[in-house]
Amino acid sequence: MDERFTVEPNKSPVPAAALEAILANPGFGKVFTDHMVVVHYEAGRGWHGATVKPRGPFAIDPACAVLHYAQEIFEGMKAYRTEDGGVTLFRPAENARRFNASAQRMAMPEIPEDLFLAAVRALVEVDRAWIPAIGEGSLYLRPFMFASGVYLGVKPSNEYIFSVIASPAGAYFNAGGGSITIWASDQYSRAAPGGTGAAKCGGNYAGSLVAQAEATEAGCDQVLFLDAAEHRWVEELGGMNIFFVFEDGSIVTPPLGGTILPGITRDALITLARGQGHVVREAPYALDQWRADAQSGRLVEAFACGTAAVVAPIGHVKGRNLAFSISEGRPGPVAAALRAALVDVQHGSAADPHGWVERL
Ligand code: PLP
Ligand code: COI
Repeated sequence: MDERFTVEPNKSPVPAAALEAILANPGFGKVFTDHMVVVHYEAGRGWHGATVKPRGPFAIDPACAVLHYAQEIFEGMKAYRTEDGGVTLFRPAENARRFNASAQRMAMPEIPEDLFLAAVRALVEVDRAWIPAIGEGSLYLRPFMFASGVYLGVKPSNEYIFSVIASPAGAYFNAGGGSITIWASDQYSRAAPGGTGAAKCGGNYAGSLVAQAEATEAGCDQVLFLDAAEHRWVEELGGMNIFFVFEDGSIVTPPLGGTILPGITRDALITLARGQGHVVREAPYALDQWRADAQSGRLVEAFACGTAAVVAPIGHVKGRNLAFSISEGRPGPVAAALRAALVDVQHGSAADPHGWVERL
């Protein structure tokens, strides 16, 4: 255990038999491990009081800044079980860097990268028994930070709490190995130029919920957001990046330009796809063009990707006055090969030429 952390073990952890039942079918984000990490920040004093303790509620004042002005950011990452019973993290320093980029955008203090990483490792160490055995499962890790200062003036808080919680996770979608259906929102935007789209802040997700509810209402799995200015260019899904695969084997994904989240899975898949011989371009792609290409057969696959979703083939696209399918809704071989390559690296069962995997 990192010497900066005080450890208060949970005196009534989930019993082994109950844990086994949870890990057999964890779902996503519904059950939480026995512990959490908490680190405090105060202007002038900096980060202090790093603790691993039994998971439990925060006592926060009703005037706590986050409750009013939503100064909050988070990350999503996973710990994976290897075939030999070991544990891996996938590119954790990228999460630390993105967390600090989000902190900058939300006028929050950065946390030293090594403290972020030590916090994640400390929680995985203490709750190691919660990592599902190799297969679909993993331990989803949720580092987050919120403004805990007590005041109602609209300004950056002087106090913050950084925390990490963990939740055993199975498949994000109930697609059962099939494809997902997405809803193209023509009414709501996720992010505009100059906004917070590239930051992983809670507000982006709060703003997406009404569009996601529309998607769910229409029987779709995820909402697709288009650019805010023209409502024409595909940006990303509510919680995932998106890729397109063409008949000639080339691949396109929307470019990072401040309005979409720079996904770590997205970045890894660009590298893996190039390694598998695909030409990959980061280029704007219009919804109209997507429909035309899906109908002509020039486009053969589309898929969503992210830490929670891994790689999820998109079979159908719906919207107001819009409905089309990609390759008749069947998952395709390119998404399957990329998913396999990614998962094998994450679980430590493939070579790791890019140094993406940390073994704990
Ligand atoms: N886009 C959004 C809006 C997300 O919430 C996520 C998930 O974290 C992603 C993309 C994918 O990012 P990553 O691959 O780093 O998980
Ligand atoms: C993740 O993939 O880590 C995400 O944050 C997406 C999500 C909000 C479920």
